[in-house]
Amino acid sequence: MAVLITGGAGFIGSHTAIELINSGKEIIIVDNLCNSNINTIENIKKITNTNSIPFFEYDCCCKKNLTKIFEENEIESVIHFAGLKAVGESVEKPLKYYSNNLKSTLTLCEVMSKFNCNKLVFSSSATVYGSPKTVPIKENFPTSTTNPYGTTKLMIENILKDICLANPDFSVACLRYFNPIGAHRSGLIGEIPNGIPNNLMPYITQVAVGKLKILSVFGNDYPTHDGTGVRDYIHVVDLAKGHLNALKYIENHNGFETFNLGTGVGYSVLDIIKAFEQVNNIKIPYKIVQRRPGDIAECYADPTKSQKLLNWKATLSLEDMCHDSWNFAKLAFN
Ligand code: NAD
Ligand code: UD1
Repeated sequence: MAVLITGGAGFIGSHTAIELINSGKEIIIVDNLCNSNINTIENIKKITNTNSIPFFEYDCCCKKNLTKIFEENEIESVIHFAGLKAVGESVEKPLKYYSNNLKSTLTLCEVMSKFNCNKLVFSSSATVYGSPKTVPIKENFPTSTTNPYGTTKLMIENILKDICLANPDFSVACLRYFNPIGAHRSGLIGEIPNGIPNNLMPYITQVAVGKLKILSVFGNDYPTHDGTGVRDYIHVVDLAKGHLNALKYIENHNGFETFNLGTGVGYSVLDIIKAFEQVNNIKIPYKIVQRRPGDIAECYADPTKSQKLLNWKATLSLEDMCHDSWNFAKLAFN
């Protein structure tokens, strides 16, 4: 019996694949490589010392191809990472996002139902909390979205909830990630965004490597300890491990459940710059500019529910995140 990982060649999926293999699970990866590279599969093999990993270069929107995977393999559960995730692009090309993210999930769920595969872990995002009135954020906080990407996540959450209501045998762990950064210790896998990065850590590493000149800090007049935006950064390996706990949870619990995957600690932009500089002994030139439209002051998780129900807790430090992000970037860009 295998765990099917959709989007398993991507940033979080590849790290999760490693954790699953290391825990003795059989895995199958499906990814259309629209935002990833086939080399990642080779690197997962290298890191885990595995001879072969079943990999299908298919689009999850294609029912025929997904059906073929389910026909030819015994799949006990699915972790569904496949999706487009660039917030800015989703505003410019909403149809692309609604089409890909919704169609792939609907197709996957239809095929799973056909083969009586009832266990799903879904990659959601803290973006579904919109602009929270208070922090830390609990799972029962109101949800809302500010861009098409976020709306696809919330729509999918609702679809999965309805599927669980209609089929009491179905179980879904919906994981709301906060801000994943870092990379595997080996430096072999990590995140390389297309074009100029939008997110903070990829921008910092590209400044560090000399590809970009200076980091723009978006606003220093927020009501936070130093005026810059505060987020819950989580090491991607901690996040990956959370998926193992979520799989264990859905083995024994039916129905739909949401979980925050964050550390519960918020760091500001200046905290991150300082930590990165200290850990890696590199200066990051930066300038303060206007706030980025749509940004919120503070966003961090209350991870109590995940600690209690999933028996999961993030353990890696901000120093680990800064070290591993740089370790990967310097190898990837040189
Ligand atoms: P990623 O882009 O690195 O990985 C997603 C993978 O899915 C890519 O390899 C891409 O090629 C593949 N993919 C996309 N559409 C597909 C399709 N139709 N069929 C097959 N493969 C497809 O992104 P990631 O950072 O690893 O994110 C994984 C999931 O977690 C996404 O759903 C994302 O929205 C969600 N998420 C990510 C973050 C983050 O900051 N990275 C935060 C919250 C939620
Ligand atoms: C972004 C996404 C969000 C997604 C999350 C995790 C946007 C508007 N939101 O959120 O939907 O769930 O990533 O993937 O893109 N910053 C700078 N300079 C930069 C880049 C960022 O100062 O060049 C600041 C931001 O203002 C923010 C912090 O760094 O305060 C983190 O930004 P980012 O990494 O983009 O993540 P989020 O804004 O949390």
